[in-house]
Amino acid sequence: MKLVTCGLPYANGKAHVGHLRTYVPADVYVRYLRMAGEEVVFVCGSDCHGTPIVVNAEQQGLKPKQLVDIYHEHFIKIFNALNIKFDFYGRTDSDYHHHRTTEIVKRLIEKGYIYPKEIQLAYCPKCQRFLPDRYVEGICPYCGAVARGDECDQGCGRHLEPGEIKEPRCKICGSKAEFRSQKHYFFKLTEFKDFLERFLENLKGTENALNYARNWVKNLRDWCITRNLEWGVKFPGEENLVVYVWVDAPIGYISFTEKACEMKGCDWKKIWIDGEAEIVHFIGLDIVYHHCIFWPAMLKGADYALPSSVVASGMVKVEGKTFSKSRGYVVWVEEDYLKSGLSPDYLRYYIVNYTSHQKDLNFSWEVFKEKVNNEVIATLGNFLYRVLLFAWKNFGEVKMDGVDEEVLQKIKETEQKILSALEEWEFKMASDAFMELATYGNVYFQNAKPWGLIKTDKEAARKAVASCLQLAKALIIFTYPVMPSSMEGMAKAIGLNLEKAKLSDAYAVDEVMKLSKPEVPFTKIEDETIERLQKIMEKRFKGEGDEEKAEEKEVISIEDFQKLDIRIGKVLKAEKIKKSKKLIKLIIDIGGEQRQIVSGIAEDYTPEELEGKLVVVLANLKPAKFMGVESRGMILAAEKDGKAVLLVPEKEVEPGTRVC
Ligand code: 2FM
Ligand code: ZN
Repeated sequence: MKLVTCGLPYANGKAHVGHLRTYVPADVYVRYLRMAGEEVVFVCGSDCHGTPIVVNAEQQGLKPKQLVDIYHEHFIKIFNALNIKFDFYGRTDSDYHHHRTTEIVKRLIEKGYIYPKEIQLAYCPKCQRFLPDRYVEGICPYCGAVARGDECDQGCGRHLEPGEIKEPRCKICGSKAEFRSQKHYFFKLTEFKDFLERFLENLKGTENALNYARNWVKNLRDWCITRNLEWGVKFPGEENLVVYVWVDAPIGYISFTEKACEMKGCDWKKIWIDGEAEIVHFIGLDIVYHHCIFWPAMLKGADYALPSSVVASGMVKVEGKTFSKSRGYVVWVEEDYLKSGLSPDYLRYYIVNYTSHQKDLNFSWEVFKEKVNNEVIATLGNFLYRVLLFAWKNFGEVKMDGVDEEVLQKIKETEQKILSALEEWEFKMASDAFMELATYGNVYFQNAKPWGLIKTDKEAARKAVASCLQLAKALIIFTYPVMPSSMEGMAKAIGLNLEKAKLSDAYAVDEVMKLSKPEVPFTKIEDETIERLQKIMEKRFKGEGDEEKAEEKEVISIEDFQKLDIRIGKVLKAEKIKKSKKLIKLIIDIGGEQRQIVSGIAEDYTPEELEGKLVVVLANLKPAKFMGVESRGMILAAEKDGKAVLLVPEKEVEPGTRVC
């Protein structure tokens, strides 16, 4: 039995392609394992605690739970849309999770692994509170870079312990913080050095994770595990302290397994106490320390079973640039990808097949299109559709005796390649293996020419078709874990139930195959779709139109808002500006005054459409010139798919009416 877990996403922001690098390969892995006959429990959930969530909620005027509710639902929606199917997807602010965390912390206290110590902590005299983690900014004591309370994120990347940061400032009010003494609790990580060294010798997983961890274990320090917050799991006996988010988050792997087992009818204790299952953690490279050092030491201290593998993915780049939400190098799963109507299977394939799991993955729309059109559609889709359509049209049902031995051999070899790729966490190798089989299938079908044979030797044509159908069945089975929704459609055409299919069914020869009309499995990605998505991306790089940034805008007062003179206007005249594709000159009645405004909407609206229209005008914008033409104001529009959509009043109102 195996337990597979994925790093818990913070319920603090939307899902982006970077997230999927953990979840898609893990889901593919689990699906393959199950098809190879393994019993697997697969869990994940939202990471709901920690200062980023508290700070973010506070800035948005929400309670932490309200913010968490929003993103928890968002992640569930994304995982469903992408067919990432956990047995249980929990949340760390739930009672069952608090219960398990408290039990483990109490056990560590009882066993003497936790001790109190007075430390000097950043305290804001103005806000009158201690400043944990993200509440404080200052200078890294190691490299001198600007750092936040718990991490030198712009400099040396070190994890910073409470009280370490120099020249602290309160992030909320900006005041200089002072140091005040307070009692906190520490975990005796240093006592686990020998254990961790041995543990890391035997730990399996990707080399990137193991190498980092083996290096870090040489230098351990005891670990402060409490924070001054209300939101989180209370530290036993201390009303004003919660445990650090990195104590409770991984305990989610246990509490979610309890829930999954409740539903599946298995025994979580066999997994987490008796050590009867292999525990495999899929994570991103940035959280190796927590999973290979803190976590196993905690488990060992509390007498729980240890992970057997830690599988860390490489990082994600966007169009060759280091992933960065604030700089706009990001692809949002929902609004960029899914809303464009692209198949979830294409993204799953890209993530798994672009490169080795440990290497950096570059997400580029152009490469995405090429891979989908040439590999998924022209190679795999082409074979499946041609064979299934030909067989259905000419035979309806096909007796399967006489399948070519070479074909069966190829299928068995492919299964072997997939299984050994999984052992090395090489999901690209696994997906390359079925793509190679599809290439082989195309050549086989082309050489056998059943469309010619059928006229001269129907039996020979049947045998050729039977071999191709066997290949089609194998491909549907082998591809299913990577592209489940498309393969479900294909499986119907050959009467195959993929829910129950095993990898070994790929070379089991049925007596007959009863066919029904196949659906076209894939839709080609058009150049226009990609160009549109690239445009959105380019705009973001230039810092325009980034929703995440829009959300981060500062809060303004009603007085600030009232400085804006926003009115209804009526377009009297509209005329394109010569030599410009985008600009249009408008004369607008804004109530007793005719205003000239230049607007960049010429590609989206014709002058005829605009004349006579009521629009919303920002009238007190500083005048500016565009291509030499003066503009005194701005008309308001939203953006959809790179096009402007004008805001208009919902009922007829007089030009000049104030918007407030
Ligand atoms: O880095 C992160 O996104 C964390 N929320 C991961 C937590 S994984 C675990 F330990 F629970
Ligand atoms: Zn530093």
